Amino acid sequence: MEDTNKTDVLELRDAVDSVDAPNTVGALEAVFAKIPELRTVERRNENSWREVKSYVLRGQRLKPSQIEALDKHFYDYALVHSMEKLDFKKVFGNDNPVVIEIGFGMGESTARIARENPNINYLGIEVFLYGFSKLLSVIANEGLSNVRIMRFDAVQVLEDMIEDESVSGFHIFFPDPWPKKRHHKKRLVQLPFTTLLASKLKKGGYIYCVTDWEDYAKQMLFVLESTPGMSNPYDGYAPARPWRPETSFERKGLDKSYTINEVWFEKL
Ligand SMILES: C[S@@+](CC[C@H](N)C(=O)[O-])C[C@H]1O[C@@H](n2cnc3c(N)ncnc32)[C@H](O)[C@@H]1O
Repeated sequence: MEDTNKTDVLELRDAVDSVDAPNTVGALEAVFAKIPELRTVERRNENSWREVKSYVLRGQRLKPSQIEALDKHFYDYALVHSMEKLDFKKVFGNDNPVVIEIGFGMGESTARIARENPNINYLGIEVFLYGFSKLLSVIANEGLSNVRIMRFDAVQVLEDMIEDESVSGFHIFFPDPWPKKRHHKKRLVQLPFTTLLASKLKKGGYIYCVTDWEDYAKQMLFVLESTPGMSNPYDGYAPARPWRPETSFERKGLDKSYTINEVWFEKL
């Protein structure tokens, strides 16, 4: 109960912080009432290694277009958490390969990659309501039928909803670096997580991580090298994929002259 209450409080704060005019307060409250699944981003956690979360919920003022996208298109393009495994064929209406992106932020890469690869299905997962609703509005405006998104803890989505050996690739672009040593435990890319990813991948499927944080890049290499069933086709870091667009996080890193390191592993 305690965890659930905590989440509700965070979500309410998110909702309140997300308004920029008194008349949008009501609009957003109405959306939350209509889509109760939006209030919670995690189920109560019984899994001890995940007591520490890789995210904090940040509030940011939603624009009217984002509130409208939530109101009108949530159930067209968003999936909600459940304890049932997803049937990708039912979700996307075809048998195309499915790639999952974890922590899509504002969704710039997600939308562009999906637009350029209509024969691949993409499931984007992000807890940040501002980015989630922004990408939802882009998907709805363009009618990007090969994208679905979820606002939920990606680890729990993988554990609860994704069949083993069903995914063709994972994209993890610029995960939060949690630079302070005492926060390293919050980093997403750790052995239990990569072992979970590996179990969900089809044979030949890939995990593609990118970061501008040097010691996190080394951690990614080390952890993936230690993940059973995963192999690195390169000698260390991978070459940049020309199809991966630059994101705002990446631009910030480049402005500070940080090196972008790419890590690509494949399932044997
Ligand atoms: C630093 S941002 C990078 C965003 C984007 N990939 C980019 O390159 O611009 C990392 C994002 O991951 C999200 N995130 C972290 N842990 C997550 C989790 N367990 N489930 C879903 N999203 C998560 C955060 O909310 C944040 O928006």
